[in-house]
Amino acid sequence: MNANTLFVAAEAQPLAKTGGLADVVGGLARALLQRGADVTILIPGYPRAIAAARDVRSLGAIHLPMALPPGHSPARLLQGQMPDSGVRVVFLDCPSLYDRPGSLYVDATGRDFCDNAQRFAALAHAATAIAAGETPLPVPSLVHAHDWHAALTPLLMRTRGLRTPTVCTIHNLAFQGVFPMAVAGPLGLPPESLTPDGIEFWGKINFLKAGIRYADRITTVSHTYAREILTPHFGHGLDGLLVHRAAVLGAIPNGVDTDTWSPRTDRLLPQCYDARNLAGKRACKAALQQRHGLPVDADRPLIAMGSRLTHQKMADVALDAIALALATHTDAQFVILGCGDPRLEAAFCALAQRHPQRVGVAIGYREEDAHLLHAGADMLLHGSRFEPFGLTPVYAMRYGTVPIVSRVGGLADTVRDVGDGTAPAARANGIVFDGESVEAMCAAMTRGLGWYGRQRHWRSLQRTGMQTDFGWEGPARQYLAMYGSLAPALAHVPVVDVEAVAAAPTVQPARGGRRPVAVPDAPALSPSDAGAAATPA
Ligand code: ADP
Ligand code: GLC
Repeated sequence: MNANTLFVAAEAQPLAKTGGLADVVGGLARALLQRGADVTILIPGYPRAIAAARDVRSLGAIHLPMALPPGHSPARLLQGQMPDSGVRVVFLDCPSLYDRPGSLYVDATGRDFCDNAQRFAALAHAATAIAAGETPLPVPSLVHAHDWHAALTPLLMRTRGLRTPTVCTIHNLAFQGVFPMAVAGPLGLPPESLTPDGIEFWGKINFLKAGIRYADRITTVSHTYAREILTPHFGHGLDGLLVHRAAVLGAIPNGVDTDTWSPRTDRLLPQCYDARNLAGKRACKAALQQRHGLPVDADRPLIAMGSRLTHQKMADVALDAIALALATHTDAQFVILGCGDPRLEAAFCALAQRHPQRVGVAIGYREEDAHLLHAGADMLLHGSRFEPFGLTPVYAMRYGTVPIVSRVGGLADTVRDVGDGTAPAARANGIVFDGESVEAMCAAMTRGLGWYGRQRHWRSLQRTGMQTDFGWEGPARQYLAMYGSLAPALAHVPVVDVEAVAAAPTVQPARGGRRPVAVPDAPALSPSDAGAAATPA
């Protein structure tokens, strides 16, 4: 039987996306496949996702050992292929759970679906059934759960006595899947796990805590974030448990899809360009200015924002910082693309109405628009209060757009500050600021605008960003090395570059300025935990 890895996730680009999770699930699976690994992605059967997949066929009914509302649709598995990469995708098809208006997690008014606990517990039960060999799919050699939506899987697998190794990747600790204790029984969760040492969390149940507690390895998506989440400030109430499990916690920084996000080949741009010849970027800037009704002028600096308009992304701070910058930098233009908090959306629209010649705002998100935004802007403003990785500034750098970021998480790892010298600091590719204040963000924009006026140095910043290697090659090797260390069958995956993979470092424990804490076995679970692997040998 072929060794293979099962990904479990709520999103996978290009089928279903609300943010970077989708990019990483789709991009990593593709990168692993390209290196000879056999990967299957299990996602919910959102109708639009099923319609966009290739060669979809039914694998038959699946039994989910949990209570579903009376009259719910029968659940079945569908198998198809990702339309771009050909990676095998399996859908948990259950229309009463996944066929509804709104986005993946919220209704049309922006409110969480009231049955999200059922929707994602069902996904974990489906993954467990696959791991247990109860479906026509090959039994995976390793199960990799992404974020809270998938994080019950290691617990349910352990409860079933399955020895298959599990990995839980934290893409964002702020989202944990916390639900009333009363749903635990109907969800089919083992009573022994409903303690503070299990998945209980302030009297409720916490899906992500299950992943952190019971997975054999926990990873997150940047080195700095891996250290930050061990502290109360960034730990969202789970820092204590993460410290407890620090010996199996590590970071594998994300990659980006360098084919999709490449100004040299991007068909969504009016004109392509590369680091040697940036002429096409002027055409992209003109197109972006035109689209937002701003005066078309190559010399006026254009600062863009493209992200969820939320507290995490400091959209509230950006609103005031941009208002301040409008007053102090009278030639600068601003374009904002995104959606999120309705009050912030309205406030950005009002700002554009007050400054129609200087501010363009598009509420919503279309992948095509994000490409033009990254290509046409001079700078990308991306403040975050916390940022596990932050793909957006990396996409911007690929297009010669200089990022202005806050020094947190992955942003601190990917963006190197230009400094205040007479020339950019060595290997500088952007502007970094500290803190969460309007003044700090505005001062960072002022610094950016200062460097923008010094053309030769600006080119150097742009080129350094464009030439930095952010591809999946390195991260994919690290994942393969980790999988191989957990599952002997996966150590023999016929990877394209076997020597390099063998030499790749295994996942690095987070550097927390302290010795890693030994992880004791998780609490016993019935019915058959005797053989369940607690932590890897
Ligand atoms: P996060 O996942 O926290 O939103 P990232 O920067 O890592 O942050 O990834 C964001 C991804 O989502 C990028 O692919 C970006 O183009 C896309 N994106 C940005 N804003 C939106 C939005 N409003 N809706 C959907 N996707 C968005
Ligand atoms: C999350 C994080 C983001 C990260 C993405 C992919 O959405 O907020 O920082 O890049 O996941 O890992």
